[in-house]
Amino acid sequence: MLEREQWGTRAGFVLAAVGSAIGLGNIWRFPYMTYENGGGAFLIPYFFALLTAGIPLIILEFGLGHKFRGSAPLALAKARPGFEWLGWGQVFIAFFISVYYVGVVAWSLNYVGYSFNMAWGDDANAFFFEKYLGLSGGAFDFGGIKTYILAALVLAWIINFVVLYSGVKKGIELANKIFIPVLIAMILIIAVRGLTLPGAVSGLNYLFQPDFSKILDYKVWVAAYGQIFFTLSIGFAIMIAYSSYLPKKSDIVNNGFITALGNCGFSLLAGIAVFSIVGWMAQISGKPFEEVVTASVGLAFVAFPTAISNMPTAPQLFGVLFFLSLVFAGLSSHISINEAAISALMDKLNAPRKKVVTVYCLVAGLISLYMATGAGLYFLDIVDHFTNQIGIAFCGLIEVILIAWFFNVNSIKEHINPISDFQVGGWWVFCLKFITPVVLGYVALSNLWGDLKAPYGGYPLSAVVMLGWSVIAITIVGGYILRASGWRNRELLND
Ligand code: PHE
Ligand code: NA
Repeated sequence: MLEREQWGTRAGFVLAAVGSAIGLGNIWRFPYMTYENGGGAFLIPYFFALLTAGIPLIILEFGLGHKFRGSAPLALAKARPGFEWLGWGQVFIAFFISVYYVGVVAWSLNYVGYSFNMAWGDDANAFFFEKYLGLSGGAFDFGGIKTYILAALVLAWIINFVVLYSGVKKGIELANKIFIPVLIAMILIIAVRGLTLPGAVSGLNYLFQPDFSKILDYKVWVAAYGQIFFTLSIGFAIMIAYSSYLPKKSDIVNNGFITALGNCGFSLLAGIAVFSIVGWMAQISGKPFEEVVTASVGLAFVAFPTAISNMPTAPQLFGVLFFLSLVFAGLSSHISINEAAISALMDKLNAPRKKVVTVYCLVAGLISLYMATGAGLYFLDIVDHFTNQIGIAFCGLIEVILIAWFFNVNSIKEHINPISDFQVGGWWVFCLKFITPVVLGYVALSNLWGDLKAPYGGYPLSAVVMLGWSVIAITIVGGYILRASGWRNRELLND
């Protein structure tokens, strides 16, 4: 039987978990979401979601992976055989995220190059959407493959392949030990530069000025819960897989807190870095802030490039730093999401890592070519929406319901407390049993209802069915099929 791999050091595990959590979402999703959902007031639902769902669930997932020493399907099957399909559902969601997420890493790689000569010129918007992406007329109107995006995609997959092929300790741990400290240093430099620009304060005011009326809006709470799950990489098999490689004596509770708080601290820092620079630009250009700041993709690839173009000194440097930050943050997350699927396949097939990594990277890499076509942005938009709003919401919800209600959750508590400095107690169980299921249940059902009422984002129904609902259908059906097929090595289930 294959011996399970292990992290080399505690810091190595924490860096890998933090590396998974800190991702593109922290840089292009968190700041805009905060701005749009009530500024400083958004931090109330955000921290509420963090305390009642984020931290309890990350501790639960660390505990599950550590106690049962398996990828999500294996750990859940060991908890109770009937739970295995949920693990596969999470693996499928992870896979679908992987194939579009890598596209944004590829774009960031291209933009590192463009930063040297500020290739976007004075119209970063037209450059990005028309010239760079060559955005087509619809989700199935591919308009040919862009060779520069293809090259960047191949590079991103090669890095993934090398890291994953080298294993948990020599690959994933080592990569994160390099990526994460460098990433934090780069974001700090950008934040300091941003804060020393005149006008930075106005950007921060936009980011943090509280609009308390917003927190009465249920949509803001939905957004906060969704963001917490995505940002902490919980509900989709990653943290269970990573913690399955922990040594027997590992402080679960402490590691959970460090990962969650490290991730949220980084989000605040990234928000400050991006908004101070964009705020400064709004001021010097005399344009209203609402006009210069744009959502997600646009924030990173349009607003930020435009802002640094106006910088008095060394704009190229800040372009390179910013896009390299996206590359490092994105790669460390992308590696984790692939490992979630790879570890599951290794467990199920009792197959060696090298074989699984090779086949996996080829298959996922081929599908991700969609991101190199003129329809890539539509693919990203629709798959992202369905995997997050429906996929992660329901996977997270089903996970807490199964574990808190159909499993003796106290057995996990009794497993983690003796090995942890801080103890989890009644509040932890209460969050898992009551608060999270109620709020997340509401979130998941209202998301589902929204998508049933009208096709997402005004896309034609065919696009939403082929790229959105089909992803959900494959996840459910695939989960059942894999659950029904046996384990190559049944001993794994008993040890
Ligand atoms: N936590 C990641 C982020 O904020 C989310 C993620 C992890 C997405 C891994 C994909 C893969 O970006
Ligand atoms: Na994150």
